[in-house]
Amino acid sequence: MTVHLVGAGPGDPELLTLKAVRLLEEADVVVYDRLVDERVLALAAPWARFVDVGKVPGAPADSQQRINERLVALGRRFGQVVRLKGGDPFVFGRGGEEAEALRAAGIAVDVVPGVSSAIAAPAMAGIPVTLRGVSSGFTVVTAHQDPSTDDRLDWGALARLGTTLVVLMGASRAGAVADRLIAGGMPADTPVAVVTSATLPDQHVTRTELGALPTTPVASPSVIVIGEVAAARVLDPVLAELGPTLQGAPA
Ligand SMILES: C[S@@+](CC[C@H](N)C(=O)[O-])C[C@H]1O[C@@H](n2cnc3c(N)ncnc32)[C@H](O)[C@@H]1O
Repeated sequence: MTVHLVGAGPGDPELLTLKAVRLLEEADVVVYDRLVDERVLALAAPWARFVDVGKVPGAPADSQQRINERLVALGRRFGQVVRLKGGDPFVFGRGGEEAEALRAAGIAVDVVPGVSSAIAAPAMAGIPVTLRGVSSGFTVVTAHQDPSTDDRLDWGALARLGTTLVVLMGASRAGAVADRLIAGGMPADTPVAVVTSATLPDQHVTRTELGALPTTPVASPSVIVIGEVAAARVLDPVLAELGPTLQGAPA
């Protein structure tokens, strides 16, 4: 009896790991949430049961607690449970909390890392998060906490790092993020790229500057890349803007 916390990657099924595919094929139960692509779920065996625990924005605060309890119950009842999580389970996926709850209940748990949108989304837009002579590091943060009230992230320090800033869950708070970074000293003309639905057929990329981010529409799911590399276009620009539909097509 094991619950496997499996990274499903950013969407494109070809970015699953071989281990993720094997575990899906062997699973008795697949527990999944909102961002997992249907083509990934289709890889499970015909006998597998599916449990949708998708949280929608604005869901009650205790919904993660209920998910933990369901995982424990499923882990006690079935031999192989795959808990699929978008991207990597331990990158803003609450996989750590689920692993702790399962271990506390005496249920075996393992983790299968996945390709995180934090690096996949910039890459698909032709943006290397590090680039020799331009950016020697990158920091991944969430905008989910309201940056105008949340003290846990030091936005002033982030503004001064001089490396690439990758913001997840920023769809509704991009403007507040920009305001805090500019207040912290980041120039308003810092390049920004918003990569939406990365690796999926409807992928699109919006290039802008930090000062214009508050008036730039940011759909969900998006990764916001802030820093000099956001102006880079190391892939064919037409293909990078149009995404995987054309990138995978024969010439
Ligand atoms: C709850 S976090 C989970 C992150 C995930 N564990 C990972 O490693 O990618 C959800 C956020 O990931 C980002 N995201 C996930 N999939 C994405 C995609 N295909 N394109 C753009 N952003 C994505 C968005 O910022 C979204 O709000």
